[in-house]
Amino acid sequence: MSDKFKAIVINNQNDKFSRDLKEISKSDLKDGNVFVKIDYSSLNYKDALILNDGGKIVRKFPFVPGIDFSGKVVESEDSKFKKDDDIILTGFRVGESYFGGFAQYAKVDSNFLIKTPKELDNHKAMMMGTAGFTALQCAFAVKAREELLLGEKVKDVLVTGATGGVGSIAVMILSKMGYDVHAVTGKKDKNEYLKDLGAKNIIDRKEFDGESKLLEKGTWDGVVDTVGGASLTKILAQTKPNGIVASCGNAGGIKINTTVMPFIIRGVKLWGIDSSGASIKRREFLWNEASKLIDFAKIQSFTKELSFTELLDTYPKLLKGEYFGRAIVNPNK
Ligand SMILES: NC(=O)c1ccc[n+]([C@@H]2O[C@H](COP(=O)([O-])OP(=O)(O)OC[C@H]3O[C@@H](n4cnc5c(N)ncnc54)[C@H](OP(=O)(O)O)[C@@H]3O)[C@@H](O)[C@H]2O)c1
Repeated sequence: MSDKFKAIVINNQNDKFSRDLKEISKSDLKDGNVFVKIDYSSLNYKDALILNDGGKIVRKFPFVPGIDFSGKVVESEDSKFKKDDDIILTGFRVGESYFGGFAQYAKVDSNFLIKTPKELDNHKAMMMGTAGFTALQCAFAVKAREELLLGEKVKDVLVTGATGGVGSIAVMILSKMGYDVHAVTGKKDKNEYLKDLGAKNIIDRKEFDGESKLLEKGTWDGVVDTVGGASLTKILAQTKPNGIVASCGNAGGIKINTTVMPFIIRGVKLWGIDSSGASIKRREFLWNEASKLIDFAKIQSFTKELSFTELLDTYPKLLKGEYFGRAIVNPNK
C-alpha cells in the first residue's frame, strides 16, 4: 500500500465545523494493535449526527468517524488475528473516541474485533452493520422470555420505528423466529415493504400518541422499541404479564413517564440494549445466528452502496428522516 489513503475527516476549528474527504497516513492512526484494510462501513443514525456537527459525541478533532466496519487484517500485534483474516467491528466507541470506519484503513484494538463468520462475508456484515446487530440483540432479548424465564411461547411482538434500519431487520428476524410481528410505522406508503419483510399487521404510529392508562389491555409478549419517549409509556402499559420490552432507541424522544404498575402488577421487564458495549462472547453468538435469521437478498434490495462523496450527500437526508433503506459505504468506490 502507499502510505497515503482516503478518509473522511471532521474538524472543528474556531467553532467552524467541517467534513472533508482527505488523504491521511498510517502514522495518523494512533490507537490499536491491528491494522485493517476496510472493505465496507455503514451509515447509522449516530454517524449522521457525528458528520453533522460531532453530535456532542466526538470531543477531539481532527477525527475520522464511522462506528462500524468490516475488512481484512493487514498487520496484527495480537496472535488471535493474522494477516488476511476477515473481521467485523461495531461499537466500542470506535468512530466516537477512536478513529473509525470512514477510511480505507483503520487501526483498532484486537479486543474489539470478531472474525467474520464463515456463513457471512464482509459485504453482508455491513448490510447488517450496527443496525442489524442491534436488531439481533433485541430479538434475542424478546426470545429470552421462552428460555431464560421458562415462560410460555412468545406470540405477538411489537416493533416500533419499523421502517428504520434496526426496525426493518428486527421485523425480518422476529418473523423468521416464528412470531406474529406487529409493525408500527409513521410511513403510510410502506405497508407492502413491511409485509414483505414478514410483518403480520401494520399499526399507525399515531395509535401510540396521547395519555396512557396505568395499565391497558395486555397485548404484547415482546416489544422491540427503537422510538422511546411517550409511546414507550403506552407500550409498557400494553405489555402482557412477564413480557419483555427491549428498548434500544430514542428516535421519538428520551423521556419516559411511566409508573411501577406494569413492573409490579404484571412483571413486565424493560431490557435496555447497548450494542456498543456487548461482550465479545455475545457478539460471536449473535453474528453466528445472522445467517440463519436474515434474508440477505432481501436486505440487498433496499441497500445502497455509497462512495465517500455520496456519503457526504446522503447523511443529511437520514437526519431529516428522508432516507429510506440501508446504506453501506464502500471506501474503494
Ligand atoms: N442502543 C443501541 O445500541 C443502538 C444501536 C443502534 C441504533 N440505536 C438507536 O435506535 C434508533 C433507531 O436507529 P436506526 O438506525 O434504525 O434509525 P433510523 O433508520 O433513522 O430509523 C428510525 C425510525 O424511527 C421512526 N421515527 C423517526 N422519527 C420518529 C418520531 N419522531 N417518532 C416516532 N418514530 C420515529 C421512523 O420509522 P417509521 O417511519 O417506520 O415509524 C424511522 O425510520 C435510534 O434512536 C438509534 O440511535 C441504538
